[in-house]
Amino acid sequence: MNIRPLGHTLGVEITGVDLAAPLADADFDVIKDAWLHHKVAVFPGQTLTEAALMQFGRRFGELEIHVRSTYHSRENSEVMIVSNKKEDGRAIGVLGDGEAQWHIDQSYMPQPTFGTILFGQEIPPEGGDTWFADLATAYDRLPPVLKAKIEGKRVVNSVDRHNRRDAAGRPDLAMSAEQLKRAPDSPHPLVRTHPLLGTRAIYYSPSHTAEVEGLEEPDSQALLAELLPHMTKPDLIYKHHWSVGDVVMWDNSATMHRRDPFPGEYSRLMKRVSFRYPPEHRVPV
Ligand code: OGA
Ligand code: MN
Repeated sequence: MNIRPLGHTLGVEITGVDLAAPLADADFDVIKDAWLHHKVAVFPGQTLTEAALMQFGRRFGELEIHVRSTYHSRENSEVMIVSNKKEDGRAIGVLGDGEAQWHIDQSYMPQPTFGTILFGQEIPPEGGDTWFADLATAYDRLPPVLKAKIEGKRVVNSVDRHNRRDAAGRPDLAMSAEQLKRAPDSPHPLVRTHPLLGTRAIYYSPSHTAEVEGLEEPDSQALLAELLPHMTKPDLIYKHHWSVGDVVMWDNSATMHRRDPFPGEYSRLMKRVSFRYPPEHRVPV
């Protein structure tokens, strides 16, 4: 295996490994360690069936069944389709071809997801880049006054409010009452401690965080607006330009991500799994 850092503070490229083949424990440990310490890991040139993708994901933890069941793969409910493709006039995947704004995956769940693994199967020739921001380094670098201001604060994350706000012309965002029951408004700490590393990171998901608990609405929005520029400084970003066969995985305890739009005449098809924290670490602290 060859391991090469990609960005200023986050991102690592790992080559010389076939993720579809059984991974020796020692190789898996090297991969997990590199991923945790660099927060985003990129494996170019992979060929993965859904079964192989699930098998790789399961090495890290129990696979999550995404609450947006409309976009589960027909073969495996653990696999989510991220795509703008349509079959019989119906979207087969989530996210379409528009921009996906900054977010932390499933931060709106009572027990958010740990890592997300995305396999690029069809990639448009332009657009559709995925940006990652390092929220642990962002936290470390906050001005002390702002750090003190967010210490001990909690936020409410809400997929329902996100869907309502952004749903205009986005049928892919609609969720049933049953799905919303699994994803109720969820309070979480605004600064979270990484369950395995002990490091701290800002835990603010611009798409999903509706308010800071205990603050009046204008103060709540002002605090979140004050934080955002510290989370998106250019040297905290790794931007991934996709090639077919790329596997990219990220740690939702220390990063957020967004996706560029791409021209709708092109097809983009990604297969996605995500995995859960160990049982004792499922609720963010
Ligand atoms: C996701 C996601 C971005 C992309 O799968 O959670 O945000 O580039 N995907 O498809
Ligand atoms: Mn995402």
